[in-house]
Amino acid sequence: WTLGNEWIDHEIEKIRAKVGGGKVICGLSGGVDSTVSAVITQRAVGSQLHCIFVDHGMLRKDEGRQVMETYRSLNLNVHFVDASERFLTALAGVTEPERKRKIIGELFIRVFEEEARRLGGSDWLLQGTIYPDVVESGHGGGGVIKSHHNVGGLPDDMKMGLLEPLRDLFKDEVRRVGKVLGIAPHFLGRHPFPGPGLAVRCLGELKKERLDILREADAIFIEETRKAGLYDSIWQAFCALLPVRSVGVVGDVRTYGETIALRAVSSLDAMTAEWVHLPYELLDTVSRRICNEVPQVNRVVLDVTSKPPATIEWE
Ligand code: XMP
Repeated sequence: WTLGNEWIDHEIEKIRAKVGGGKVICGLSGGVDSTVSAVITQRAVGSQLHCIFVDHGMLRKDEGRQVMETYRSLNLNVHFVDASERFLTALAGVTEPERKRKIIGELFIRVFEEEARRLGGSDWLLQGTIYPDVVESGHGGGGVIKSHHNVGGLPDDMKMGLLEPLRDLFKDEVRRVGKVLGIAPHFLGRHPFPGPGLAVRCLGELKKERLDILREADAIFIEETRKAGLYDSIWQAFCALLPVRSVGVVGDVRTYGETIALRAVSSLDAMTAEWVHLPYELLDTVSRRICNEVPQVNRVVLDVTSKPPATIEWE
């Protein structure tokens, strides 16, 4: 397949054949994968598709508002659910990464099911799973590295069938399909963002205050990367908040502050990745701005590890 209109038409036919007159629920994450899945499916089944955008409290700064605007402009039928307090309550005291993923994955489906019921029931759950998710969850022959939000973590008693139209595609292929579908280049060019959101980038306990620190730092890093004209040439750039505090000094006052790690990688498909040699001036600006504008942070470090042996995300 060339992943043009022919591939799309074929997928549309497959979805129609599977779904028939049934109803489809789609959980939108704000990312490219779920958006492309939703636009294809809407072409296939029209108003039988209901999208749900759950704010799980682990979105980036201002992300909920921006993403809802994009969905409205794509004419997707989206129901917004603010479940942030519910997620944070369920995650209180949890620090183990796989446990976080499991809790988030299960609660996500519960929220969908509740919303689906509220909308009069649904037969199918549409997910934006792509090929690397399948492989890394151990469903494609690889070992279980981590239970990806889209693949693992589904409760055993889930009532709906699963639709995954992008299951065989790599990220760049998803973007190509999105372009043919007429989705704005700016949106398609956004870096990948994991389903569990900042939960996988906030090590240790997930408290609102810590997530807010991460949101502010991350927004600064991304803004400066864009300003430097580097955003589009990087596969993924983000901040992680480490579960480590250290001593610092401001004026003659001792501080005991948080640590932010900067991560930027280049990659073709997320299976392997190289750390990006960001210019020192950019790193300097970002470090100064984060420490000045996010007073809880007194240390900024740079991750210079490729994948393997590291993964792209910190968890
Ligand atoms: P890692 O950290 O395993 O990540 O090198 C590979 C790529 O997958 C993204 N990622 C996820 N995407 N749901 C997703 O949709 C997830 O649970 C998830 N975990 C990681 C990650 O951002 C990177 O692009």
